[in-house]
Amino acid sequence: MTTLYKVNGSVAVITLSNPPVNGLGHASRLSLAGHLEQANADALVKSIIITGAGKAFSGGADIKEFGTDKAMAEPNLHSVIRMLENSGKPVVAAIHSVCMGGGLELALGCNYRIASPGVSVALPEVKLGLLPGAGGTQRLPRVIGVEAALNMIVSGEPVKSEMLVQLPGQKLFDKLSASADSLLEEALAFAQSIADTRPLPLVRNLPCKHKNGDAYFQFTRNMVKGMAKNYPAPLKCVDAVQAATQKKFEDGLLFEREIFINLMWTPESRALRHIFMAERAASKIPDVPADTPLRDIKLLAVIGAGTMGGGIAMNFLNAGIPVKMLEMKQEALDRGIATIRKNYESQVKKGKLKQDKYEARMAMLSTTLSYDDLSDADMVIEAVFEEIGVKEKVFSELDRVMKPGAILASNTSTLDMNRIAAFTKRPQDVIGTHFFSPANIMKLLEVVRGEKTAKDVLATVMALGKKIRKTSVVSGVCDGFIGNRMIEQYGRQGGFLLDEGCTPAQVDKAIEKFGFAMGPFRMGDLAGNDIGWAIRKRRYTEKPDMKYSKTADLLCEKGRYGQKTGAGWYDYVAGKRDAIVNQEVVAMIEENRRNLGITARQISDEEIVQRLVYSLINEAAHILEEGIASKASDIDMVYLMGYGFPIYRGGPMLYADQVGLFNVVQSMKRFALNPLDDAKFWQPAPLLARLVAEGKTFN
Ligand code: NAI
Repeated sequence: MTTLYKVNGSVAVITLSNPPVNGLGHASRLSLAGHLEQANADALVKSIIITGAGKAFSGGADIKEFGTDKAMAEPNLHSVIRMLENSGKPVVAAIHSVCMGGGLELALGCNYRIASPGVSVALPEVKLGLLPGAGGTQRLPRVIGVEAALNMIVSGEPVKSEMLVQLPGQKLFDKLSASADSLLEEALAFAQSIADTRPLPLVRNLPCKHKNGDAYFQFTRNMVKGMAKNYPAPLKCVDAVQAATQKKFEDGLLFEREIFINLMWTPESRALRHIFMAERAASKIPDVPADTPLRDIKLLAVIGAGTMGGGIAMNFLNAGIPVKMLEMKQEALDRGIATIRKNYESQVKKGKLKQDKYEARMAMLSTTLSYDDLSDADMVIEAVFEEIGVKEKVFSELDRVMKPGAILASNTSTLDMNRIAAFTKRPQDVIGTHFFSPANIMKLLEVVRGEKTAKDVLATVMALGKKIRKTSVVSGVCDGFIGNRMIEQYGRQGGFLLDEGCTPAQVDKAIEKFGFAMGPFRMGDLAGNDIGWAIRKRRYTEKPDMKYSKTADLLCEKGRYGQKTGAGWYDYVAGKRDAIVNQEVVAMIEENRRNLGITARQISDEEIVQRLVYSLINEAAHILEEGIASKASDIDMVYLMGYGFPIYRGGPMLYADQVGLFNVVQSMKRFALNPLDDAKFWQPAPLLARLVAEGKTFN
């Protein structure tokens, strides 16, 4: 049973009991409907309370049911709410905690609502590209007014119960209890006090008007349009709330229903729902049980106070975990600490961080020049130069000084984690934590699982990732892990596009129009073109058969490394990030093309986008098949959180599913016929070919 039933004197108490958040999936709705019938049939029952067990009244619909028959299977939420409204006996919602989405819609179908102070109330459906589909857009404006309701529905943000009761004329809550503890007792007394009230109040019978009518909605629409680019749902929320002010209640419900169903099938909603599930799925590792005991991390050591070390340390300080930093020289330590201070001070200046919190964080940061001082740390993250010899020295030292059971992590972006683990006598305690730059800001953390990494080490690092508010994705060991291995193929396509006739600005513009935060050339300038150059030089000997455009090398030979040198594919004015087209670079690309005997051709934006995005997809399919990523949705999370892939497209794998894998492969076959491209690369990865043959998708 997902609802509990108990009669207390003359009051039937129905408790939603479906952990973790009392989601209103089919089983819960069925159970609730049954208990409502039972209460109505019991002559001793005079009034009914609906409340929630555990940490929520109800978090709303069960999103796992979306897109399946169960979502609308009877009794659907509409039908349950109708039962509430038709109940011959008064129904009181007693809300002790989170009341969201369908949970709030359910409460709005009750005759009365009592909440405790501090309860979070929201209609967050817009965050999944939807609108409230069980009457929320029609009922909420009737109890808190059109403007407040529209604000809640369009933003999806939670509002506290004590703020809502302050709204003039509000009818959402009949009263607030003194506390969460006294809620049920107060609700019981209230339910008895209104047991004989007739007619029973119903939200649907309340008027719904805005004094400025059409003008208000027009202004709101203009504002929402500006903010909700690429997402259809927010404007549809405005339409639905406006309908509440114009249509009869039942017609408004039908209108809302129709919009809800249409939104459910939009690629944007599919993407947002996919991300919601993918984020949760990323923390689940197939062969690591959820109840794996975790190692206790009370003190973290960071080796190297450079670009990454400083940012990494900040993550832990922000989460209240003390950090000890080690460097080779005092000057390097001083420089690193000064950068951390500067970062925090800028947050204080912007009002994002309180002075006392800044000081508390700095007080948790200590420094040392001696490895022997690290013996009390529970975990260490190494962020020194990217050279295997340096890593070897560091890990041998760590093996010597770290206490047994301490976790030894490396932030390496390219080196073999198994090799690094083998520098110690405890490879089971070694793991990769690949942060992205700037490490204190970027949401993504690739957790690199070595051949011998212990399961509890992996589970501990994943939990730690959550604590420092990262989206952590597990990657196996391979060159570039998930993200950079894919981006290398994307970068190669960018190079071929230049050789064949594009300018950097044309490529960047096309992919930015597709929704990427930054095109490959602006990204190269930001990250430093010398990094890619170093990798290519390595590749020229490691993989002599691999085809590369040489244009980027010519650029680097001119010292145009990007923003850090004030010049890369574009020019930059000191202190600014605006990319200014440089005609010499354009001429350099043209000259290289002439030297290669290539006649430039017009390349469409569609071709640019397809070649860049499909190169990611094909490499990802290899990664998935090799088990480097355990699920397609993990790859999506890497690209959404670390590489600026457009959120509303749901990541490269979901995008491929939406385009249709058959169509993706057809395009790849076409690209393989282009003599200036890399025909071998465009052979569909075996997994991709198999999915097409079986008519399946990645996700
Ligand atoms: P960096 O050059 O800014 O900093 C490295 C720091 O390590 C320097 O302060 C240096 O003094 C110190 N160091 C070198 N050898 C040491 C030793 N034996 N003991 C103690 N300290 C030592 O380098 P960055 O960019 O911070 O990179 C560090 C690591 O993070 C590298 O493995 C790199 O591949 C990786 N990484 C870098 C990213 C980036 O965007 N910069 C992104 C992701 C990973």
